[in-house]
Amino acid sequence: MIIAANLKTNFTRKKTKEYINELEQFLDGNSVSEDVLVFPTSSSLDSYDGKVVVGAQNSYPTQNGAFTGEIGLEQLEEFGIKTILIGHSERRHVLGESQEFIAEKFDFFKSHGFKIVYCVGEPLEIREAGKEIMMDYISNQYEGIDVDYENLVIAYEPVWAIGTGLTPTLEDIADIHKNLKDISKAPLLYGGSVKVANAKDVLSIDNVDGILVGSAALKVNDFISMIKFADELDK
Ligand code: PGA
Repeated sequence: MIIAANLKTNFTRKKTKEYINELEQFLDGNSVSEDVLVFPTSSSLDSYDGKVVVGAQNSYPTQNGAFTGEIGLEQLEEFGIKTILIGHSERRHVLGESQEFIAEKFDFFKSHGFKIVYCVGEPLEIREAGKEIMMDYISNQYEGIDVDYENLVIAYEPVWAIGTGLTPTLEDIADIHKNLKDISKAPLLYGGSVKVANAKDVLSIDNVDGILVGSAALKVNDFISMIKFADELDK
């Protein structure tokens, strides 16, 4: 399975290095078959050559150029980074990225062979409008996206569940994941308030191929516990 930590705007470069080193120590000392991904803040990116796959939370779809405040491919290549999160709800809803721009990013990083963790998910008012409207909304987030891309991983993250402590029921996750697998056969992660207390249940659900964890991943031991759960389940 794929166990991913989205560190968002947390940790300094030094703290990030300590965090990744602790994960490496764990992975070195235990034969774990899970894929462990960590997405640090842009300024904490660095060269890592262990088992942890380090990815970018964001990048502008450019080699380099005049895009003040952004980083591009050149800055990722410096550290050998070949993995990126695209379409995260905070990029869509806080930073205002449109589906068109997200699809442009997707194409750019696909053309450079990146592993893309592509996020979809509905806000609360859409969920409350009923299943059909909700599935339509989520389907639209696949517009312009090559769902057959070989290096694609999808993360279903309901916006209302991110950082709120709220989660859909296990039945709801199972139901939505089943529907989303009809759109793309890519590995499908669940994200949104995953923590030690619920990770095992979430990971046990059919069509859940891993988790994308934000706040609860900030404690490295908690994140390690979630990796262990996945390994025990051996799906
Ligand atoms: P959360 O964030 O685990 O804090 O809800 C998940 C995410 O945004 O990827």
